[in-house]
Amino acid sequence: MRVLVIGSGGREHALLLGLDRDPSVTELHAAPGNAGTASLATNHQVDGASADAVVALAREVAADLVVIGPEVPLVLGVADALRDAGFAVFGPSAQAAQIEGSKAFAKDVMAAAGVKTARAEIVDSPAELDAALDRFGPTWVVKDDGLAAGKGVVVTADRAAARAHAADCLENGHPVLLESFLDGPEVSLFCLVDGDTVVPLLPAQDHKRVGDDDQGPNTGGMGAYTPLPWLPDGMVDQIVDDVVRPVAAELAERGTPFSGLLYAGLAIGADGPAVVEFNCRFGDPETQAVLDLLTSPLGETLNAVATGTLDTLPPLQWFDGSAVVVVLAAENYPGTPRTGDTITGASGDGVLHAGTKLDADGHIVSSGGRVLSVVGRGKDLAEARAQAYDRLAGVKLPGSHYRTDIGLAAEEGRISL
Ligand code: GLY
Repeated sequence: MRVLVIGSGGREHALLLGLDRDPSVTELHAAPGNAGTASLATNHQVDGASADAVVALAREVAADLVVIGPEVPLVLGVADALRDAGFAVFGPSAQAAQIEGSKAFAKDVMAAAGVKTARAEIVDSPAELDAALDRFGPTWVVKDDGLAAGKGVVVTADRAAARAHAADCLENGHPVLLESFLDGPEVSLFCLVDGDTVVPLLPAQDHKRVGDDDQGPNTGGMGAYTPLPWLPDGMVDQIVDDVVRPVAAELAERGTPFSGLLYAGLAIGADGPAVVEFNCRFGDPETQAVLDLLTSPLGETLNAVATGTLDTLPPLQWFDGSAVVVVLAAENYPGTPRTGDTITGASGDGVLHAGTKLDADGHIVSSGGRVLSVVGRGKDLAEARAQAYDRLAGVKLPGSHYRTDIGLAAEEGRISL
């Protein structure tokens, strides 16, 4: 099977690594990929958000399967164009991708499906802002109502900070979503979905704030671990039954069935799980940890979704242990990152690339905010954390930073429901 992966992040590097381990996968291509994916796949300098360019590339490489990593091409309909051209695609249609692309659509689907989520209001004019803020908080949750790679969310007990972020979004012409704050530890549950068939992967937890002890602004994600030792037995099944399957059924009922990866971001409160957000694709960096534990063949698994045969797939198999991923970020991330610095030690085991490229001399240099994802695996969280941080110690990038506490609260038994 020849597989083309669209995207350039750590998530796509993890997908390519997983695909490379599947004996049925004979050839790998990435567009555009990064300096790390170049050792697994042929990188093509093609814009993944251009449907025409991606279809042309899929034809050129005679792809048997196209896997779309990021949300932007999905929301823009790249999966639809590929399907119309006769390709098997892992990733939802533009209409189904609205579950991530439009917060209003997601809220409407959840209301119709009877799924618990935060109360929300859209504000699209500065004149409405103060009155709307009075109807929420503290704590205030202010989201840019567009695709903002996680960085468009501010969660704060400070009304002035909430107001400033909302005003900033409005000034840039983006409506703002105000939400009630959902208390409780967060879970990312990734589910393979093919119409109304739902198969969950292992649950993971992301660390969204830039600094240790959840200090500082939100990022796209600074690290993650899987599985979750504190999650009660049966909770994954409860989330599938009460949240993901009803949403998948509602999308199918509307004539826009979901095919791909439906990511439920949840807070587990005193009265059960509530949805923080849905995404229409694998999460980053959780994917780097989750796929590290998957022993089932990834190509066959994604192909089953793409060809509408998920219901015939054998149960997924996993390593019996834990995985941890720590993100190495460039100086000043999540602000405008410094780029162009030389990275050393970036070719070791478990070192996945995201914001990297090869310079004219063939050196690996930084080219984005989240530069590398370093993964460790072990029989438990302590061993996985130790391996991840050990591997990270071998990587050097001037000015870079990372969190030292990924998975630590769970390892120390400090997360409870
Ligand atoms: N880990 C957060 C995201 O992928 O959106």
